Amino acid sequence: MIDVHSHILWDLDDGARTFDDSMAMLRMAAQTGTTDIVATPHANSQFAFRPEAVEEKLSLLRESTAGLIRIHSGCDFHLHYDNIQDALANPAKYTIAHRSYLLVEFSEMFVARQIDAVVSKMLAAGIVPIITHPERNLALQQRLDDLSRWVKGGCLVQVTAQSLLGRFGSKSQRFAELLLKKNLVHVIASDAHDSTDRPPRLDLAYAYIAENYNPELARRLFVENPAKVLEGGPIYVDALEPGQRHDTRRRWFRW
Ligand SMILES: [Fe+2]
Repeated sequence: MIDVHSHILWDLDDGARTFDDSMAMLRMAAQTGTTDIVATPHANSQFAFRPEAVEEKLSLLRESTAGLIRIHSGCDFHLHYDNIQDALANPAKYTIAHRSYLLVEFSEMFVARQIDAVVSKMLAAGIVPIITHPERNLALQQRLDDLSRWVKGGCLVQVTAQSLLGRFGSKSQRFAELLLKKNLVHVIASDAHDSTDRPPRLDLAYAYIAENYNPELARRLFVENPAKVLEGGPIYVDALEPGQRHDTRRRWFRW
């Protein structure tokens, strides 16, 4: 499995605190079936994104884990004005593996029309936004139509593995299920912050999807789509129009 969202780099944000924490998280990820993990420290008003520190920590961890797991660079990018301007000017600075896809976290007080404009600017700059864990965002939980429009317009959606298992409460769990049923989930990731409360594990959620939906879907959400995200390649997306049947769905690719 490939985990595209994690806070495994120590002393950069509210994730791992020490080098040992980072190593423990990486060992746990590898032991539970993750082959590749993307380190995505926050870029928000509380934590500045420091690309040199990210690279330095990545190389130390790559050396120390020696073949246990592949570690890639990325960012948990908060959607606010200064961040957006900087990403549009330097797209590869924040994207996953410096390619096309960018994790974007919405504030809980967004204005939908402004998001439309930001999304089109990002797409024009070659950045494909991946909206992170809408199921945990109180505003997005009420805005399924907007979310669906952003997906049609070019965004992808990432759900947090633990949301499906109830870690963030029943509302988040129900909304995650609804998104799955509407074909509005493209990637499931851990968003791990430590080894205990929010661990870097995908295995339990993988089993949940394989059992309650189907094994093909589990493979797509935990392996195939995240692999495309790493490569910066196109992802197969299908979304149902309201009232549309599965066999008449429209299909297109995200690049
Ligand atoms: Fe995160």
